[in-house]
Amino acid sequence: MTQDEMKKEAGWAALEYVEKGSIVGVGTGSTVNHFIDALGSIKDDIKGAVSSSEASTEKLKALGIEIFDCNDVSYLDVYVDGADEINPSREMIKGGGAALTREKIVAAISNKFVCIVDGSKAVEVLGEFPLPIEVIPMARSYVARQLVKLGGDPVYREGVTTDNGNVILDVHGLRITNAKQFENDVNAIAGVVTVGLFAHRGADVVITGTPQGAKVES
Ligand code: 5RP
Repeated sequence: MTQDEMKKEAGWAALEYVEKGSIVGVGTGSTVNHFIDALGSIKDDIKGAVSSSEASTEKLKALGIEIFDCNDVSYLDVYVDGADEINPSREMIKGGGAALTREKIVAAISNKFVCIVDGSKAVEVLGEFPLPIEVIPMARSYVARQLVKLGGDPVYREGVTTDNGNVILDVHGLRITNAKQFENDVNAIAGVVTVGLFAHRGADVVITGTPQGAKVES
């Protein structure tokens, strides 16, 4: 089974968490794209979606799924999104697709975070995948210097502007053993919009696509 087929297993299995008549929180990425296809197959049974990126919005709209503004929704039952890394405490690194800020906002208003991954995303310690940080453009150099003081090696993601008009620094060389503290430390740097560490708001359910089918841990 290919990695994409395993992503598909996870994406379709997440349908089980979608309530009839609900508005669904939808993340971003290649695994979520399979979930969006799955949502398309039940689109008449749901009210619509709150989306975490322009890319997902476009795909949802193309399938005829109504998009709701996050400001018009007080909470969501469920948010389905992928991850770049996930540890045994269900803390995650996200933002490989540069959508981390909107992902964090939609996750924050959701009662349940269902993380859909293939097995390659499971790690013991977060940090092998460079940690994405969305930064206000004028603060890029300052934030990079502060990140070096925190032990990282930040690299500017050239040519990428986020949906919010900001830039991304990818921080290499980290071994994040206290993810909640590190999330706090990076959030405290002036000019940081969002750090792609989802530790304070981790996943509630993890669905892993495997060659034997989807493995659900809740
Ligand atoms: C986008 C994300 C994605 O969830 C993450 O990058 C995983 O992507 P994929 O499902 O393509 O492996 O955080 O900002």
